[in-house]
Amino acid sequence: MRRYARITGTGSYLPPRRLTNHDLAAELAQRGIETSDEWIVERTGIRARHFAAPEAASSDLALEAARNALEAAGRQPQDIDLIIVATSTPDMVFPSTACILQNKLGANGCAAFDVQAVCSGFVYALTVADAMIQSGAASRALVVGAEVFSRILDFNDRTTCVLFGDGAGAVVLEASEEPGILASDLHADGKHVGILCVPGNVYGGQVLGDPLLKMDGQAVFKLAVGVLEKAARATLDKAGLADSDIDWLIPHQANIRIMQSTARKLGLSMDKVVVTVDQHGNTSAASIPLALDHGVRSGQVRPGQTVLLEGVGGGFTWGAVLLKM
Ligand SMILES: CC(C)(COP(=O)(O)OP(=O)(O)OC[C@H]1O[C@@H](n2cnc3c(N)ncnc32)[C@H](O)[C@@H]1OP(=O)(O)O)[C@@H](O)C(=O)NCCC(=O)NCCS
Repeated sequence: MRRYARITGTGSYLPPRRLTNHDLAAELAQRGIETSDEWIVERTGIRARHFAAPEAASSDLALEAARNALEAAGRQPQDIDLIIVATSTPDMVFPSTACILQNKLGANGCAAFDVQAVCSGFVYALTVADAMIQSGAASRALVVGAEVFSRILDFNDRTTCVLFGDGAGAVVLEASEEPGILASDLHADGKHVGILCVPGNVYGGQVLGDPLLKMDGQAVFKLAVGVLEKAARATLDKAGLADSDIDWLIPHQANIRIMQSTARKLGLSMDKVVVTVDQHGNTSAASIPLALDHGVRSGQVRPGQTVLLEGVGGGFTWGAVLLKM
């Protein structure tokens, strides 16, 4: 009998400070940077985002999301034998945010490591956890996406700083005889490193290069719409399913126009797409598990349904995971 990895609980967390586009535009105006609610909504669909307090790190956001997911799964931290955190805004250069989270949770002793695939981080982390569970290397995993992207935004660059937010989402993934994750498909193309990056690095006690986010928005947009359709089709093919079998599409929440384009190409109406980008902005690796948890807790996403998760982001990286809830 096939050993599957199945999601048994979801959780998420948003830091309390919420800024609408109007709030952010007013803050940026004080720096002489001009933007508007109309521009942001029209180009991206974003209306609000959350920013973490200065003292809150990714592991703090991850801790709240993880506790919520464990509670939903009816599990204790000690039940977990693997923690994977997807993040591009780790607490430290090292050790991993997963180790810091493990200690905060009190799940000491289990395997713990980070995955760095920027906005595709959660689908990468889920695929790794699935493979480890299928192989028998792990039985009960906590897979988290957590980000404090506000730390790496250039608030003098209106083309990027209006797009991102902070947050965390988590799932408990357990070995099961019941179908859970059905197939996944991951890719990267490193020749596009420069179109979305934070080029700075720590060197001899100083930051060498620019430590803030740089993006060629139009190049990212064009690449994203092409690769997301391919990854969706490849994943469906691997599972022997068709577009019409998808109950919910939960794409990375970067831009409503990219999401609409993907849905259109798959012949799905927007009623079948979980949308949180309007309220969260782009929370990078946290966006998919945040949207999944929103879908579950709002009663949209129900047990037995077929869900396609899709990530895309810096690297350039992209991928999809098809699963039964
Ligand atoms: C970033 C993005 C919204 C920009 O939209 P766009 O339609 O490409 O806009 P452009 O960059 O061509 O800029 C159009 C104009 O708006 C202006 N503009 C840019 N940001 C603005 C802002 N926040 N407020 C007001 N005006 C803004 C530009 O200066 C430009 O003005 P100009 O024509 O006078 O030069 C869009 O490219 C995008 O969504 N890309 C994908 C980004 C993404 O999802 N990244 C994450 C992937 S993980």
